[in-house]
Amino acid sequence: MNYPLEPSPGAMRAMGDAALSFLLSFLEGLPEAPSFNTESARELARELRGSAPEDGGSFDDVLQTFVLAASKVNETAGPGYLAYIPGGGLFSAAVADFLAAGTNRFVNLWAQAPALVQMENDVVRWLCDLFAFPPGSRGILTSGGSLANFSAVVTARKDRLPEDFLKGTLYVSHQVHASVTKAASLAGFPLGNIRRVACTPELRMDVEALRSALRADRSAGLQPFCVIPSAGTTNTGAVDPLEAIADVAAEEELWMHVDAAYGGFFHLTERGRERFVGIERADSITLDPHKGMFLPYGVGALVVRDGEKLRDAHYSGAAYLQDLPGEDELPNFAEYSPELSRDFRGLRVWLPLKLHGVSAFREALDEKLDLARVLYEGLREIPGLEVPWEPDLTTVPFRVAEGADGDPNTLTQQLLDRINASKRVFLSSTMLDGRFTIRPCILSHRTHRDRIDEALDITAKSAAEILS
Ligand SMILES: Cc1ncc(COP(=O)(O)O)c(C=O)c1O
Repeated sequence: MNYPLEPSPGAMRAMGDAALSFLLSFLEGLPEAPSFNTESARELARELRGSAPEDGGSFDDVLQTFVLAASKVNETAGPGYLAYIPGGGLFSAAVADFLAAGTNRFVNLWAQAPALVQMENDVVRWLCDLFAFPPGSRGILTSGGSLANFSAVVTARKDRLPEDFLKGTLYVSHQVHASVTKAASLAGFPLGNIRRVACTPELRMDVEALRSALRADRSAGLQPFCVIPSAGTTNTGAVDPLEAIADVAAEEELWMHVDAAYGGFFHLTERGRERFVGIERADSITLDPHKGMFLPYGVGALVVRDGEKLRDAHYSGAAYLQDLPGEDELPNFAEYSPELSRDFRGLRVWLPLKLHGVSAFREALDEKLDLARVLYEGLREIPGLEVPWEPDLTTVPFRVAEGADGDPNTLTQQLLDRINASKRVFLSSTMLDGRFTIRPCILSHRTHRDRIDEALDITAKSAAEILS
């Protein structure tokens, strides 16, 4: 009998060898690869459209199709990727994913694979310890920051509000990431229950504005229950005043959830810890290892000070799981999370941590903070640009200054297009106070000083051309 779904060892080795040799040459070529290569990508997408074939084909053909499709992209893995929030994608984590998927282990209920669950639990404990959370704290690895924010808001809602929760109001700054307001909406809150608190000129949440919003809502008979500061906003990397917000949360008995999806791992560095004072008082924190730990897309994390509250919000028993014991010293992660079956994502954090050690991550993050400084100082030297905010982390927003010949928003858009046309760096933009602003963000493990110097040269030349 021939079982095509169970290839021979030789066929599997051939597939593995071919995939690995592609990956090695891809990674070797990254420094010289164009920062985007999407010119004919839509045509290719249309060409590839097709239904599932009745009969299978060769692995080489399938791999070639993937290789072609994966080349018509914005180069998110390359050193020039400074758009949105980069991550990079560690090779060691890709190997972990291969092993995890190849063995297909189930880790969301501990009795299925106790020692593997211990490995993932060590990762979660490491994250809790990073913020000096107490022994009763618990956490989960999610698919990303958005899902972590969602579970956090649901947990806060269940802990602080009655079943009928529509009088509950939550507080974010107007710079908050959209995943937080989406989380609140998915958790059942009308948009009108989300207060977007004003910011200071540094684009940090204004604590006095927070206090007055709370006063107004309380006197209107509403039930403020949660405040969500950011430890690194996506727009500018600003860190909200966490200590002062923690004071307000304590006085007002609010759940404090910190969205540290972008900035969280800077807590490994001395500069990060200085900026994040107060984060250790949070009730819960979102982290994104696929950003600050440079892992491939697909792993976020939520840590919660009182783990029982996370469990209360997510636990749901089932008769068909009765053979599997409840947790003892090992957690049943499924009881703390919306997910039951999922990938063994703990391995993609555990393996790189064990292989490289925490110091390698700390040094890389320190390097990114240094590079942001270099970029900030360098941009300030370029005539005609304004660099309005000193970076708290590694995002350095800039734009064409007012007073140039033409509309600054249009000129900044032209500047962005011209910089990106170099294909050596890829930057993205945002709107801040009605102004079109370019916001390079340095967070790939592959971005080093040479690329930042090059980005500065390209920006200076592009600005000179546009403003001449
Ligand atoms: C501050 C912040 N919060 C949340 C998210 C959402 O995370 P994810 O894209 O992993 O779902 C992001 C993503 O960029 C972010 O920057």
